[in-house]
Amino acid sequence: MRVPPPRHPGHYSVALVCLGNICRSPTAHVVLEARLAEAGLDDRVSVRSSGTGDWHVGRPMDQRAAATLSEAGYDPSRHRARQYDASWADEHDLVLAMDHENLADLGGRSERVALFRDLDPVGTGEDVPDPYYGGADGFADVLAMVERTSDALVAELSTALDPG
Ligand code: 4NP
Repeated sequence: MRVPPPRHPGHYSVALVCLGNICRSPTAHVVLEARLAEAGLDDRVSVRSSGTGDWHVGRPMDQRAAATLSEAGYDPSRHRARQYDASWADEHDLVLAMDHENLADLGGRSERVALFRDLDPVGTGEDVPDPYYGGADGFADVLAMVERTSDALVAELSTALDPG
């Protein structure tokens, strides 16, 4: 998938959306920010995340998601859960839903709304499965697909910012 051009040349804003904003989209948020910093793009790309539900607003990441990130060398400590607001659609260049249910809650696909794994070279267009009610393996699986997809997304964002 090609990402849409930024509304304001030189800066790109990405929103990541799941259900609770304590497992999947915060994991993607932390990994994507780390990858952007490695690519030297952290001052040109801003990332936010939220959940369509309000149950966990203000809370830190799920302990299992945080532990999975910590063990892999990331810092999960700054996250506090937020709820998605319809105004986010106009405030971001790209809104990426973690699964098809989240995508439907956002009103479906549009020029700037897509699935996160539309960018995944392995399993393109599939869900990031909700790990909340499952075991530890689910969190490791989420991290692996998030890392792979974030690498592809950073490459696309780099091209969108410098189309050459
Ligand atoms: P997330 O996972 O959407 O990846 O943050 C969930 C977190 C909480 C709930 C469901 C999914 N919940 O039902 O409370």
